[in-house]
Amino acid sequence: MRTFFGIFSGWLCLTVGISCSGAGSSGSSLPAYRDESRSLEERVEDALSRMTLDEKVAVLHAQSKFSSAGVPRLGIPELWCTDGPHGIRPEVLWDEWDQAGWTNDSCTAFPALTCLAATWNPAMSALYGKSIGEEARYREKDVLLGPGVNIYRTPLNGRNFEYMGEDPYLASRMVVPYVREVQKNGVAACVKHFALNNQETRRNDVNVEVDDRALHEIYLPAFEAAVREGGAWAVMGSYNKYKGQHCCHNRYLLNDILKGEWAFDGAVISDWGGVHDTRQAVENGLDLEFGTWTDGLRAGTRNAYDNYYLAQPYLDLLREGEADVQTLDDKVRRVLRLIFRTAMNTRKPFGSLNSPEHLAAARQIAGEGMVLLKNDGGTLPFDPSAMKRLLVVGENAVKMMTVGGGSSSLKVRHECTPLEGIRAAAEASGCGVVYERGYVGDPSGSYNGVTTGQDLSESRSAERLIADAVAAAKEADAVLFVGGLNKSDFQDCEGADRKEYGLPYAQDRVIEALAAANPRLAVVLVSGNAVAMPWLDRAPAVLEAWFSGSEAGNALADVVFGKVNPSGKLPFTFPVRLEDNAAHAVGEFPGGDTVRYREGLFVGYRWHEIREIAPLFAFGHGLSYTTFSISNLRLSADRMASDASLTVRVDVTNTGERAGAEVVQLYVGDDESFVQRPLKELKGFEKVSLQPGETRTVAFEITPAALSYYDDTKSAWRAEPGAFTIHVGAASDDIRQTGHFVLE
Ligand code: BGC
Repeated sequence: MRTFFGIFSGWLCLTVGISCSGAGSSGSSLPAYRDESRSLEERVEDALSRMTLDEKVAVLHAQSKFSSAGVPRLGIPELWCTDGPHGIRPEVLWDEWDQAGWTNDSCTAFPALTCLAATWNPAMSALYGKSIGEEARYREKDVLLGPGVNIYRTPLNGRNFEYMGEDPYLASRMVVPYVREVQKNGVAACVKHFALNNQETRRNDVNVEVDDRALHEIYLPAFEAAVREGGAWAVMGSYNKYKGQHCCHNRYLLNDILKGEWAFDGAVISDWGGVHDTRQAVENGLDLEFGTWTDGLRAGTRNAYDNYYLAQPYLDLLREGEADVQTLDDKVRRVLRLIFRTAMNTRKPFGSLNSPEHLAAARQIAGEGMVLLKNDGGTLPFDPSAMKRLLVVGENAVKMMTVGGGSSSLKVRHECTPLEGIRAAAEASGCGVVYERGYVGDPSGSYNGVTTGQDLSESRSAERLIADAVAAAKEADAVLFVGGLNKSDFQDCEGADRKEYGLPYAQDRVIEALAAANPRLAVVLVSGNAVAMPWLDRAPAVLEAWFSGSEAGNALADVVFGKVNPSGKLPFTFPVRLEDNAAHAVGEFPGGDTVRYREGLFVGYRWHEIREIAPLFAFGHGLSYTTFSISNLRLSADRMASDASLTVRVDVTNTGERAGAEVVQLYVGDDESFVQRPLKELKGFEKVSLQPGETRTVAFEITPAALSYYDDTKSAWRAEPGAFTIHVGAASDDIRQTGHFVLE
């Protein structure tokens, strides 16, 4: 419970024998730190000058599972955190992960961040940030633990669904609006997990070995964009190690890069239980410690807070003169800034929870993020008015997906499952819907005390389930299979990675059997990861629908029946086989004490292209119910000065019969390079909505930054003079136009 103490005067300070000479307190009855007409820095300095040593240390660590203390004597409020990143986590008990049983904390679940990234639309990211920020604010939360921007290195990472894909440019463009819009609510975005947290296996101690170019070109840019462009007020250190040091107290990542190079002025918050050493935490950039004595999932030791690394042990070091006050004050300033920007911000709006606007936003983002991977013969959209019976098959058609998966698990006010959404839309057009289970995956449905309440028990054998689905398929006009992964352990879930690339629960057999029984089959995958598709030749249509939140079913129905024309594009590559992915081909996964990223910067499409390995579906791929042409590429010049920029224009036309949106993607290739570079890299994109027959011109600005690589011999970005090629297309493997210029 938040406690707002009144403002205490100098009188009280004297009475309790505390010195509080606070700058700016002379003359005015309002102490400077409470005077909102003053600058943030003035207020922070004033508050700092009034705090005792004990008070300073007290703001640097948790006081409960998700809160830290303010300064009660000064009326500086507590700081309350919440997961993140897809909705506001239900209230948990003071010391435990279990939910507190509140009845006013059900939220709207927004689509998983993979789905958001798949919209390739920064406006959707802004809408997402605004909406989730309003929910956080209404719930009186100050720090939203998200968004996550760890790069998609392998399809086996259990937490990929919480991140924004494999490309640093796409993730950078998508993270910035999310952060900005959340923070307009007086709620801090806490960008996580900084950095190199690309697997769950041994996440607490694995040491990542990665070369400097890959670190700077692939793994850091989205964090940098969130901090420098988005202005993130908080960053979460990750569990793993880098250069042998845990990332929650990593000198190089936190002091040198984040706070040094990027001039981050906010607070570094530890991941829950990610701190391991007081001296390192003190010296290497950590500001706020949470979750110690837990591994992030099991129950903690009660009231262990005074024993946190940044609690009594830190006080002892300070009192013994073993730690300096300047470092302490820097941490306290950062935490005060965070509190002043959030909890103590009296100008923030009030927020809202479960508003119709939030549900509409969830539905719109989900619809825009779904990716039509394959659509032979115009199988989709289904026309329900021309069908008598539609068969829906699969556990994921009925299973609530907002519960489970780890810290992103939610308690929703409302969740429309795929079957509910499909049934409502089909029946409104006079088409009956029949359901068959097809396979049994994981019928359980609970996480930390939140239960779905669904009874998914099933007594039929696997053979019987397939036979029943096949019999129903033969009687149906069309079949919609809804499967994929789920939020159970070893699927799309925190704490462990996937064990295999194939679909679980023998779904391949079900799909093969359905394809043989009815040629009008559309396969819908609900997942946050790529999966193998050995049946792809037999399935005429495939749609990646992601974990799409409260409005999953309605959004799916919008796309399946053509109310929404799909415009999502893959934010990561789907390899044919796991061995085609770089981390598995030449890198290491999951490694042991150390995991070596031997593939370097050749992650995702960069790897497939340089090795000429055809993907199952390429980065940037996604079909529409209409068609588009991209033509008439022109450059503003064929030479570019090293301090200038160049404009690339193309025309995009809707050549089909439905309104739709195309994501025009611009990639840059360095033709004459001293160092090895990817064949091409994404450096621009724009989603363009067009009526049938309509044409629009899209313009991209190419700056030297878009041409640069990280020169690890000089620790600096460098654009080499010489020839470059511009590739513009509808996917990384569907380039329609190229242009050439020379950088002088
Ligand atoms: C996760 C974080 C999460 C935190 C608090 C950790 O286990 O890694 O992403 O924000 O718990 O729930």
